[in-house]
Amino acid sequence: MSILRLLVLSLAASVLVLRRTSAVVAQNQCAVQANTLLSGRTYINCTHLPYLDATLHYTYDPANSSLSIAYVASPTTGGAWIAWAINPTSTGMVGSQALIALKPTGGSAVVAKTFNVSSYSSIMASPLSFEVWDLAADEVNGTMLLFGSVKVPGSATSLNQVWQVGGAVDGSQPLIHPLSNGNRQSMGKLELAASAAPGPSPASGTIAMPPEAPAPAKNGERRMGGRGRGVWLGMAGAVVLGSLAF
Ligand SMILES: *[C@@H]1O[C@H](CO)[C@@H](O)[C@H](O)[C@H]1NC(C)=O
Ligand SMILES: *[C@@H]1O[C@H](CO)[C@@H](O)[C@H](O)[C@H]1NC(C)=O
Ligand SMILES: *[C@@H]1O[C@H](CO)[C@@H](O)[C@H](O)[C@H]1NC(C)=O
Ligand SMILES: *[C@@H]1O[C@H](CO)[C@@H](O)[C@H](O)[C@H]1NC(C)=O
Repeated sequence: MSILRLLVLSLAASVLVLRRTSAVVAQNQCAVQANTLLSGRTYINCTHLPYLDATLHYTYDPANSSLSIAYVASPTTGGAWIAWAINPTSTGMVGSQALIALKPTGGSAVVAKTFNVSSYSSIMASPLSFEVWDLAADEVNGTMLLFGSVKVPGSATSLNQVWQVGGAVDGSQPLIHPLSNGNRQSMGKLELAASAAPGPSPASGTIAMPPEAPAPAKNGERRMGGRGRGVWLGMAGAVVLGSLAF
């Protein structure tokens, strides 16, 4: 066996080991959080998000198109908020509908609020464009927890999500988040179809996503819903790229 071949093989082996290791670490983190942080709330799925050391526990219930989540992250040093958002119309911060856990200035308890992020400079406390219930927030040892349930369009098989860690607050208003790479890249797709709560008739379960097309450029819209029906409702989370606010 040539040296080159050996090198290639061992490289491939280490990549496999690394992948396995990070998957195991993520799984452990999900399990540890579920046992220690979630106050008995349970979720079917959990993903360690690729940026900001944040984790999303979630359950999608196709029976009533509801998604319940627990978003777990630590605010940046000196920061006082964390956010998880869906953008029903695009993939960036602008237009996103955000659930935010924040510690108001001078307060000690974390509160949960919803914000309409209509531009980089307009982050308004507001009801969202979809139904939200069971909104709650908590903090354990510097880690913040954001809980909530949202109604998603019945045809959705995935959502564009955005997540963030702040940043200071002014009163109950989140201020700009850091602009590191992680804070700018923390958006992506959340698959719903594969997260169905166990139902009575698995045979009539949700439709799997068609193979993923390459991700469009940053602000491209993403498709969801019935294929061939041209439902372009990119639900992109968006609490990123804030030049003024988030
Ligand atoms: C959807 O179903 C879940 C689980 O049964 C329930 O907790 C939730 O309240 C329902 N939501 C709506 C909007 O009916
Ligand atoms: C969010 O703010 C924009 C701009 O003010 C407004 O057009 C939109 O209706 C608001 N959405 C909600 C859900 O309040
Ligand atoms: C919080 O931190 C303290 C001190 O490190 C530790 O004893 C405790 O177990 C932690 N609590 C949780 C829920 O992780
Ligand atoms: C969610 O969990 C279920 C049950 O373990 C699993 O079948 C499904 O593939 C998971 N979905 C995702 C997106 O990981």
